[in-house]
Amino acid sequence: MTYEQALAYLTEHGQEHLLRYYDQLTPEQQAHLLEQIEGLQLERPQFQNRDAAAQKRGSFAPLGAATLEQIAEKSEEYRKIGLRAIREAKVGAVLLAGGQGSRLGFDHPKGMYNMGKTRDLYIFECLIHNLKKVTDEAQAYVPLFIMTSEQNDAETRAFLKEHDYFGYSADNVHFFRQETEPAVDENGKIFMSAPDQIVLSPNGNGGWFSSMQRAGLLELVNEIGIEWLNVFAVDNVLQQIADPVFLGATIASGCASGGKVVSKAAPDERVGVLCLEDDKPSIVEYYEMTEEMRTRRNPDGTLAYRFGVILNYLFRVDALMHTLGSDFPLHIAHKKIAHLNEQGELVKPDTPNGYKFETLVLDMMHMQDSCLAFEVDRTKEFAPVKNAEGVDSVATAQALLEQNGVVL
Ligand code: UTP
Repeated sequence: MTYEQALAYLTEHGQEHLLRYYDQLTPEQQAHLLEQIEGLQLERPQFQNRDAAAQKRGSFAPLGAATLEQIAEKSEEYRKIGLRAIREAKVGAVLLAGGQGSRLGFDHPKGMYNMGKTRDLYIFECLIHNLKKVTDEAQAYVPLFIMTSEQNDAETRAFLKEHDYFGYSADNVHFFRQETEPAVDENGKIFMSAPDQIVLSPNGNGGWFSSMQRAGLLELVNEIGIEWLNVFAVDNVLQQIADPVFLGATIASGCASGGKVVSKAAPDERVGVLCLEDDKPSIVEYYEMTEEMRTRRNPDGTLAYRFGVILNYLFRVDALMHTLGSDFPLHIAHKKIAHLNEQGELVKPDTPNGYKFETLVLDMMHMQDSCLAFEVDRTKEFAPVKNAEGVDSVATAQALLEQNGVVL
């Protein structure tokens, strides 16, 4: 793209300020900036009008789950099926570690956060420890695909290498980078973070499969013969990965996907709920639920929309292929975004000042024909580290780790 083409394109979309410093840049910087502009795709409706990103939802209905009691009765049978699938190399794990962790306010990849009190215990270490419990039992490795972002890729790779992958086999760890989207201010103008740099943020956790494809990893998935991918968030330090019982139950159910869920503690708990939307599996966010949905009860007194998701899903690879090339909705998140101000100084705001565009893994769930909701005990499997203080914070996750016998 030439300067003239960039100017015409940006002017058409009201973003010509991105070329404000062009004359002051070196030829390399100019080329770098033009390359970013070329990748912007500003013609998409969400960039013209933020309301276009608001999703129209269908009609919701509750979805039952395999409950703790039901799972306990058949756990040995499920475990055998799951372990067999692992030994037959049919299972891969995908760690979503491309987020920015802005709520935690930690300036490094979230997985590098040290949860220890008297010793070092990094979040990545907690996760790999949990995965190793399973691979030791199965006596077979599960290929681990780690999604990073442009911003944290080098640091994540270096950290894991330096720590020798916390005992996992390096040959079974594969990194890939997720794609980006520009961030805009309250008036829809794209932010810059340097005279030759547009603020490009990771495009949300929904892009993991297409990003794996772009990185050439689906060829590896097919070569190994992986049939199931277990996708999970970096920030749950009690996350159980490639859980054989979950795998076995999902395989036995014949469903195209599975989702770990916990029983909501109260109608107002702020978690997305696994349910049906127009007869397909879907996740309804807490803020999208009506009062009637939040409080509706089954005859036995339990909440009808009871099963909250914890970002631990199983997807059948052949069913995922259909999602490639699909138009994922772009969600808008109001966030704190560091940027160059009018004077060309870098500002780091304390309150949200703009918007990022994200695809979400929950939209991928809605593209599946069926899903087994699989209930787990939240005190054993759900310790999210989202905030610096208060709810879902380091302190609450540390308490849960200790409750589960982990020495900190
Ligand atoms: P969150 O939705 O909590 O986002 O991520 P975040 O960026 O980590 O944190 P905040 O909102 O800025 O505080 C849930 C999971 O999805 C991953 C995160 O790394 C985490 O495992 N994620 C999120 C990505 O991999 N890429 C993204 O673009 C966003």
